[in-house]
Amino acid sequence: MAKLGVNIDHIATIRQARKTFEPDPVEAAFIAEKHGADQITIHLREDRRHMQDRDLRILRETVQTKLNLEMAPTEEMVAIAKAVHPDMVTLVPEKREEVTTEGGLNLELKGLEEKIQELKKAEILVSVFIDPDNEVVKMAHKLGADAVELHTGYFANAKTEVDIDKEVERIKEAVHVGKKQGLYVAAGHGITYFNAHYFANIKDIEEYNIGHSIISRAVFVGLGRAVQEMKALIS
Ligand code: PXP
Repeated sequence: MAKLGVNIDHIATIRQARKTFEPDPVEAAFIAEKHGADQITIHLREDRRHMQDRDLRILRETVQTKLNLEMAPTEEMVAIAKAVHPDMVTLVPEKREEVTTEGGLNLELKGLEEKIQELKKAEILVSVFIDPDNEVVKMAHKLGADAVELHTGYFANAKTEVDIDKEVERIKEAVHVGKKQGLYVAAGHGITYFNAHYFANIKDIEEYNIGHSIISRAVFVGLGRAVQEMKALIS
């Protein structure tokens, strides 16, 4: 059965909107795990727009499943990962001006192989977030990555059934190549309650990392009760 990694960055985004104590991603991780999450995924961005160093430190202590740290392949982030020791690091590209991660990581980046090896030497599993492209998957294997996370954003943005099918086929092939290379294959970005069914026939995807759609749904699943509770409190 595929594993579910729940990305809880948006919880921190709400907290940072007021720079207060709530909602706390630590509590979010606890609830997600209690309800079946197999992994907690967080992205420590260079500008610390949502997750903070404190979140990573405490989550390392409290997460009972697996902690997957998404981060840019920079010296600062490698040092943080080595100090905190998440179960897995997923290397992602990062641009300050982007709203979210836009494309897969460029595996030709100078110094990338060294950083992968440095993390592996520290006994951290290393995944790379890449476009679902056969050659890129092979290159990830060559660089020594343990895992790949295939970027499903192109699929999620596809508008017509023809384009969606094309993207699903591309992902399917990339999954196949990844498995053949002995890589752990994950997928993520833009997966929702409405499009997840397209992956039903790609059995070899071992893990999905999903954030935006789960947190969006959580707002509405919980809003009614939150209003009732405040109404009771003020009366
Ligand atoms: N995987 C990676 C590498 C990501 O950068 C993100 C977004 O932070 C996700 C998965 C989750 O994407 P979404 O929030 O669209 O579900």
